[in-house]
Amino acid sequence: MRMIKWQNGTVLTPDQTKLPLQEVTLKITTVDQMCEAIKVLRIRGAPLLGAAAAFGIAIAAYHSKTQSKEKLLSELEDAATKIKLQRPTAVNLFWAADRVLAKARAFIGTTEELKAAVVEEAQKIADEDAAQNRAIGENGAALIKDGDTVLTHCNAGELATVEYGTALGVVRAVCEQGKKIKVIADETRPLLQGARLTTYELMRDHIPVTLITDNMAAYVMSKGLVNLVVVGADRVVQDAVFNKIGTYGVAILAKEHNIPFYVAAPKSTFDLSRKAAEIVIEERKPEEVTHIAGVQIAPTGVKVYNPAFDATPLKYVSGIICESQIYYPKDFAKFGPNFQL
Ligand code: MRU
Repeated sequence: MRMIKWQNGTVLTPDQTKLPLQEVTLKITTVDQMCEAIKVLRIRGAPLLGAAAAFGIAIAAYHSKTQSKEKLLSELEDAATKIKLQRPTAVNLFWAADRVLAKARAFIGTTEELKAAVVEEAQKIADEDAAQNRAIGENGAALIKDGDTVLTHCNAGELATVEYGTALGVVRAVCEQGKKIKVIADETRPLLQGARLTTYELMRDHIPVTLITDNMAAYVMSKGLVNLVVVGADRVVQDAVFNKIGTYGVAILAKEHNIPFYVAAPKSTFDLSRKAAEIVIEERKPEEVTHIAGVQIAPTGVKVYNPAFDATPLKYVSGIICESQIYYPKDFAKFGPNFQL
């Protein structure tokens, strides 16, 4: 199912803050609305953020009244700058915005043709993501046997992508091959993407899923209840994988229990010119920790630390499943600015 659609200047996408209790479709027609949706996680998940950034610039192009190409380009640059300010960690957002801008800057043609070309490029980014996730699913499916139980953290599913999912794309592909598998979903505090979104989309697709709280993962692994871990990524750098806070802990637990730990991510999530220390980890507001679903659970005024992502060093990663192949530790050793993906 398509998670983000372009309809004559309007972007349609589920409001993920309302799931699983309400299914509300956002209708986004301005760059400011797109920025707000990204900031508060109505739209979330690295590949979906990429498509949203591209469609956000497409909105600026489509609704622009200017006939001047120079003015249009400057409006597109402004839109991209605003969108990029919303969340710092998922590289897909920057990658997609820069790809659309590069297309616009290099475009030869009239102003109206340029507007259409920007919309077309955004649509292309979305279509490519959908196809890449199916390829990731096929590549990863070979790692999972009939009867296995797979643990995942956060939501790297259809809701985090344009279609099909990355980590959950692997799960879907395994199920489509007729293997009977089960999924264990970490709830993923503080924003509960596992509890709210992963369980929702797997139950909708009749894939067996069991929800656990984050602090149960060690026990569940120690009982031999997990055969493999697969998670998504917000950015893959030379020495680490950035993903939802808590992923690093899951990776350490997997290593301790001799459970393979895989990451599923398209090439648009790779940023091999950088190392972990250079990446900004988003810190979000204290209320996400002091409150659950609007109900205060901690004393008023308590000091809070709320990083939204962590970096898992590659020594904990068994492989990174992408659309063309699976990268293994022998490949990680060569990761750098000149590495050919
Ligand atoms: O803060 P979020 O919900 O945008 O974080 C999402 C994740 O960490 C996902 O695991 C990641 O983006 C991969 S999505 C295919």
